[in-house]
Amino acid sequence: MSKAATEQKIEKLREKIRHHDDLYYVQDSPEITDAEYDALMRELKALEAEHPELVTPDSPTQRVGGKPKEGFAKIAHSRQMLSLDNVNNEEELRDWDRRAHELAGDGAEIAYVCEYKLDGLSMALHYRSGARGASYLERGLTRGDGTTGEDVTGNVRTIRSVPLSVPPAKLEKAKLPANFEVRGEVVMPFTAFAKMNEEREAQGLAPAANPRNAAAGTIRTLEPNIVAQRRLDFYAYFALTVTGENLFEEQSDALEALAVAGFRVNQHREAVKSFDKVMEFIQRAEEKRNSLGYEIDGVVIKIDSAEVQRKLGYTGRAPRWAVAYKFTARAGITQVEDIRVQVGRTGKLTPVAVLTPTFIGGTTVSRATLHNADEIERLGLLIGDRVKVERGGDVIPKVVEVVVDKDHPRGTKKFYFPTHCPVCGSEIVRAEGEVDYRCVNVDCPARLRESLLHFSARSVMNIEGLGEAVVTQLLDRGMVKSIADLYSLTEEQLISLERVGKKSAGTLLEEIEKSKQNPLNRVLFGLGIRFIGERTAQLLAEEFGDGRPTAMDALMAAPTEELERVNEVGPRVAQAIREFFDEPKNRALVEKLRKAGLTFTAEKKKKSSELEGLTFVLTGTLPNLTREDAKARIEAAGGRVSGSVSKKTHYVVAGEEAGSKLDKARELGVQVIGETELLKMLQSS
Ligand code: IVH
Repeated sequence: MSKAATEQKIEKLREKIRHHDDLYYVQDSPEITDAEYDALMRELKALEAEHPELVTPDSPTQRVGGKPKEGFAKIAHSRQMLSLDNVNNEEELRDWDRRAHELAGDGAEIAYVCEYKLDGLSMALHYRSGARGASYLERGLTRGDGTTGEDVTGNVRTIRSVPLSVPPAKLEKAKLPANFEVRGEVVMPFTAFAKMNEEREAQGLAPAANPRNAAAGTIRTLEPNIVAQRRLDFYAYFALTVTGENLFEEQSDALEALAVAGFRVNQHREAVKSFDKVMEFIQRAEEKRNSLGYEIDGVVIKIDSAEVQRKLGYTGRAPRWAVAYKFTARAGITQVEDIRVQVGRTGKLTPVAVLTPTFIGGTTVSRATLHNADEIERLGLLIGDRVKVERGGDVIPKVVEVVVDKDHPRGTKKFYFPTHCPVCGSEIVRAEGEVDYRCVNVDCPARLRESLLHFSARSVMNIEGLGEAVVTQLLDRGMVKSIADLYSLTEEQLISLERVGKKSAGTLLEEIEKSKQNPLNRVLFGLGIRFIGERTAQLLAEEFGDGRPTAMDALMAAPTEELERVNEVGPRVAQAIREFFDEPKNRALVEKLRKAGLTFTAEKKKKSSELEGLTFVLTGTLPNLTREDAKARIEAAGGRVSGSVSKKTHYVVAGEEAGSKLDKARELGVQVIGETELLKMLQSS
């Protein structure tokens, strides 16, 4: 293929990918499957790898720069990024409207644009003209102090709803110049928020308090790789000149133009001509609030005409031509009557505040999470205290602060975290560096129900017919006291359950019998050992497998150092495995399962040597892995870890606050990677 033809092919492919990005990330209406999309991306990557000279900065492959940053440069905004004045009810909004009319003068009619007030952080994006008449994302700045923001361009580039370039045809159609600025809001959708907190929890980190904090923390992460893994969205709401003036004479036109140019503009927007219509929009927004995929905390009302906007001008900190109607906070003040401790499937103990029931944002709240023991300390909470409780979207209510005022006495009773599981009395443990306490007893009744459901799940032991209804009855009647008891259930027992006939009892027994054939990795996954998901279970089985039924024994006896030799098993995971098998009840459970005839055999896997011959140097604090962790894994994959950077170093793995080693790497031209890239290399090995 000639060079020109290749170039054309690459550009066509990019166009196609951008089109599907737009459908997926901006329009929310994908037309192809993830697999088809991945195939396009792979093809593009392969072509670009063959022709690195043809890679352009706005190629869809160039979203993640990969280089961990050492900090963010401070850069002046084209024009101050102001805040908005708030109003809290119709009356205050009427006052604002009255003043606006007075200032506009001449009994002028005022048209408004109503937009959702997205609960994220504001961001300014600078687009500048470049090759082929297109406009390219040059810079992304946080609001900062309003006058100067932080340059987070690398992170913003990973947000898929931010176009890396706007082609000339779209610029023309949108009537946008090639140099312009877009301002808008970066938000984290609830699904991404939940996922992020799940991951943080698995790592023993405190969860982010709300999607706004999560988005703000993510955008200021020093590693674009991490940002790319968390889904953030950008909603555009201002189109400005390079000096920060309005590009359009009507705000409603600006929003349409931004949408035409390929930006994500919130679909819930409306240009209206009367105050009553504004109130109707607000009311509808409030009704919609609980069914959106992201958090909003109000409605922003902007005067549509730029001319009227200029007439009204600004107060010190906010425009007079726009206002934020804040929804009543989904928060309330109530009293903590007690603090109880709940036990989850993995044995995690969560303190929960029992509250005097109070009405918050449409529902009665009588319990709120306190997350962990440290959080109670941080709040300085005593039983009997009055507290502020918040709930947002699908986030569980939480206690955010103790309310201290002179009219109400403080609580008097200090809460002591239990030393033993409140349900079964077993020992509880808190691993070093972790915030959560856990019950070590796999038979703890509170855990048992969830454990049984997990054990029977399709991806685990795949016991069809053992769903919630049956599990609940088995527990209520005391027929099952541990996972192992499933294997001694009789037909007679099953038939005695409600809605279980002779036929389904027979099928269930067959399913249970069949499950004994599952390989060791599934059994390991089924035991519900902390941190042991499907993949780690697989890796453990492969490591300890020797083709004989002794694999389980070898694993149960392995000291932590031996466990850490397994790929992806760091000190924390190794310790969790040790703790599990050191508990006599868990050992007894394994013996019962063995007697029942479960498969404890696994095949040995050839040792990986993917990183053979490669030398790594670690510097700075990695976001998740400890240094020992990273070292063990590199070595397990055949690589070497050295203490100093030289020309012979293949990779420097840099984390936060990386120091002189990073400088040295740059000086010598050694490739610098982040944790995510390291994990990827390890995974493919
Ligand atoms: S207009 C000077 N429009 O709310 C104009 N802001 O409380 C200010 N926000 O800093 C921005 N959604 O971070 C505007 N549709 C929207 C918004 C919005 C959310 C945020 C923005 C701003 C804050 C002001």
